[in-house]
Amino acid sequence: MRNLPDTAKTNKQTHLEIGGCDMVSLAKEFGTPLYVLDEATIRNRCQNYLKAFKKYHENTEVIYACKALCATGVLKVVTAEGLGLDVASGGEIYTALRAKCNAKKLYFHGNNKSNAELKMALEAGVGRLVVDTYQELENIDEVAGKIKKTASVIVRINPGIEAHTHEYIKTGTTASKFGVPQNEIEAVVKAAKDKKNINLAGLHAHIGSQILDVKPFVDEVKLLLKLSKKYNTNEVCIGGGFGVPYLTSDELPAIEDLARAITGVLKNDREIKLVLEPGRSIISTAGVTLYSIGVIKDIPGIRKYIFVDGGMADNPRPILYQARYDAKLANKPDKAAAEKVTVAGRFCESGDVLIKDIKLPKVAVGDILAVMCTGAYNYSMASNYNRVGRPAMILVNKGSATLIVKRETYDDLIRNDVIL
Ligand SMILES: Cc1ncc(COP(=O)(O)O)c(C=O)c1O
Repeated sequence: MRNLPDTAKTNKQTHLEIGGCDMVSLAKEFGTPLYVLDEATIRNRCQNYLKAFKKYHENTEVIYACKALCATGVLKVVTAEGLGLDVASGGEIYTALRAKCNAKKLYFHGNNKSNAELKMALEAGVGRLVVDTYQELENIDEVAGKIKKTASVIVRINPGIEAHTHEYIKTGTTASKFGVPQNEIEAVVKAAKDKKNINLAGLHAHIGSQILDVKPFVDEVKLLLKLSKKYNTNEVCIGGGFGVPYLTSDELPAIEDLARAITGVLKNDREIKLVLEPGRSIISTAGVTLYSIGVIKDIPGIRKYIFVDGGMADNPRPILYQARYDAKLANKPDKAAAEKVTVAGRFCESGDVLIKDIKLPKVAVGDILAVMCTGAYNYSMASNYNRVGRPAMILVNKGSATLIVKRETYDDLIRNDVIL
C-alpha cells in the first residue's frame, strides 16, 4: 500500500512487519504509543528526489525540511544520503550540529529569527540565511558585522500563488505571513546587494504543503526564474510542500513527473542552482504510530469508538487542520473490514479524534493499531498535554530495531518545574 513504508508486509505470524521487525513484538518490547520509522523508506525517498531531479538538472541540491521530524537519529540518516537541511530555529540548528551535519549545507529559515539565533547560525557557518523581511536583512547585516562574518543569503519572496491545500498550510498567497511582498522585492534585493556584510546568493519561495498538483510548482519556478534573470542571481530555491498519500485515495504526481515539469522550466541552464526543500514527502510514509486499544465504547445507532493510548498530543494534525489518516490492525492486518469505528485518543478534548469513521476488522481490546503515514509533523508537533510523556521512536532496518528517541518519563515531565 502506498501509505505504508516500502518494506511493510504481513509476516508468517500474520502480523504487520516493517523493516524486518514484527510490529506486535515491537509494541510489546517498547510499549505504546510508539513511533516507528523505516530506515529503508527514508533512504529511498532521499534517493528518489536526488536521482529524479539530477537526471534532468545536475545542478540540484535537495535539503530536508527537518521541521517535519527533527531528531539526531533521523538527521544522520538523511544527511548520509547526501541531503542538506532546512532548519527553522536555534533548536533545529543545535540538533543538526549535534548530529554532526555539515553546517554549510544548512539553510536557516524563519519569519522572526532572533539576533541570538542569527549569531549562532553565522558562528556555526550555516550555508544560507533565508531572508524573510527587509528588517531582517538589517538585523543580519548588523549581527554579521559585529562578529566579522559575511552572511550568504537568499531572499524569500511571497509568490502570490494559490495552492489548493488547507488554509493553515498555505504559505504562498499574498496575505501569508511569510516572504517579502511583491512590491518590496526590488528594494530588498537591492539592499541585500548593497549591504557590506551580506552576499546575495539567490531567491526562495514556498507555496504551501501537501500540494497534490504539479502546476503551482511550475508557476512558482517560472516566477523565480524570471526574477533571478532580472536581479542576476543564480540560486532558485522552490521550498517543499510535495504531497504524500495519507489515504490510498490521495492522487499525487510521481517524483519523476514533478522533476520533469519543474526542471523543464530551467531549460538546461546549468548556471542555475535548483534547491528543493521536501520535508513531509521524505519522512511521512516511513512512519507508523503503534497504539494499544484500551476501551471500546459503542453508542448504539450513533458511533462506535475505539480508544487508543495516545491521540492529539502525539499527533495534533487531525485536531489542528482536520488531517485524515488511515490505519490497520497490526495483529491482523489482512483480516477483512467488518465494522466502521471512530479512533479517539485518551486526551481531555472532545476533538481528540484521530480517525473518524474508518472500516476495520472486528476490533478487540488489546489489539495494536498502526496509524500510517505519521512520520511527518507528528513527533515534531507533539506536546505533553495532560502531562502525558511523548512516545519513544524506533528506527527499524533489516530486522533490527534501534531506539532513537526515548519515551518521556514522569521525571522528564517535571524537569523544568521549580518545585517550591
Ligand atoms: C520554507 C519551507 N520549506 C519547506 C517546508 C517543508 O514543507 P513539506 O514538509 O510540506 O515538504 C516548509 C514547511 O512548512 C517550509 O515552510
